[in-house]
Amino acid sequence: MSRKFLVAVGSAALALTLAACGGEGAGSGGDTSDKKPSELTIGVSMPTQTSERWIADGNAVKQKLESKGYKVDLQYAGDDIPTQSQQVDQMITRGADVLVIAAIDGTALSSQLQTAADAKIPVIAYDRLIRDSKNVDFYVSFDNYKVGTAQATALLVGLGLQNKDGSKGTATGPFNVELFAGSLDDNNAHFFFNGAMDTLKPYIDNKSLVVKSGQTKIEQVATLRWQQETAQKRMEDLLTSSYNDGAKVDGVLSPYDGLSRGIITALQNAGYGGAGKKMPVVTGQDAEIASVKLINDGVQGSTIFKDTRLLAEQAAVAAEAYLQGKEPQANDVKTYDNGVKVVPSFLLPVQTVYKDDIKPVLIDSGYWSAEEVAAGQAKG
Ligand code: BGC
Repeated sequence: MSRKFLVAVGSAALALTLAACGGEGAGSGGDTSDKKPSELTIGVSMPTQTSERWIADGNAVKQKLESKGYKVDLQYAGDDIPTQSQQVDQMITRGADVLVIAAIDGTALSSQLQTAADAKIPVIAYDRLIRDSKNVDFYVSFDNYKVGTAQATALLVGLGLQNKDGSKGTATGPFNVELFAGSLDDNNAHFFFNGAMDTLKPYIDNKSLVVKSGQTKIEQVATLRWQQETAQKRMEDLLTSSYNDGAKVDGVLSPYDGLSRGIITALQNAGYGGAGKKMPVVTGQDAEIASVKLINDGVQGSTIFKDTRLLAEQAAVAAEAYLQGKEPQANDVKTYDNGVKVVPSFLLPVQTVYKDDIKPVLIDSGYWSAEEVAAGQAKG
């Protein structure tokens, strides 16, 4: 029997069970406004613990909600779709009153969301939009298109084609660049790549940037599950296939620090960063501590900082609004069409971090300490 079918049967059975017990075990079936916070539970489903940002996100959401007196059921799915489906099912049976979900695959949770909707449990998509379902009530994230434009701009600035103030740089190229994207099943990967390509296209068109491999389509440059090893392998393959004629890579568009570190390892193994072979300008995202150290050491060019403390706060505010019988306040009601409806969203701004920005942006705001940056490791 196929897994899909089993999941469908499982969810149908669960829905029947929920209906039979009149919502018991599935929150209070909608109206929670007369309940005390200590009687209410928020299920928080996070994708993976392999990237430190999701650990920070999970902890921050939990801590913010617990500090308001709510109970939190936090689960990590190890980047495995069936595990995440099962965890969300369990959160519902265990009595979640609101769900906060950062999906691994934005389209894989439809049956769980239907069960949640039947039990009147509001669903907040956390950072990654859940697609193809009407049962997503709210979305908290960053300006994801802007992440992409900021990454591409950092590449242009690093190469000297543009100045930080947006004016034309003194360099003219042509520069050899390669492009990477995230996981195709993550809606954000498309926003990042579109933002980046809209920014890079004029430079590719006027040949100041050359993608020597010729791989410029998201399907060609995507990285399943955002895996560092996959990016390292692809960079190694690119070096062998497209740079064995003595040509050098000048820049790499990378959408996430974990991928950037894989790409940098591949480049270092091929002699980049050593005598006579300058490390290419490599971009990133998330201000992961290992990459912040690499930026500080002049190895990685930049990252995009998304303050997960603020995102966690917005998720907590939205969850609490639902629990109090109110609608959370959106600041964007047109950008995030999930294929079935436009999901009201609260979007936060993003910030590019070059070496000079580490102190004012990351250290002075308490995101990382100077010691952590020096060590390239978070303190436990
Ligand atoms: C997030 C990024 C993150 C990536 C990989 C995306 O959905 O928006 O911040 O780098 O997933 O975890």
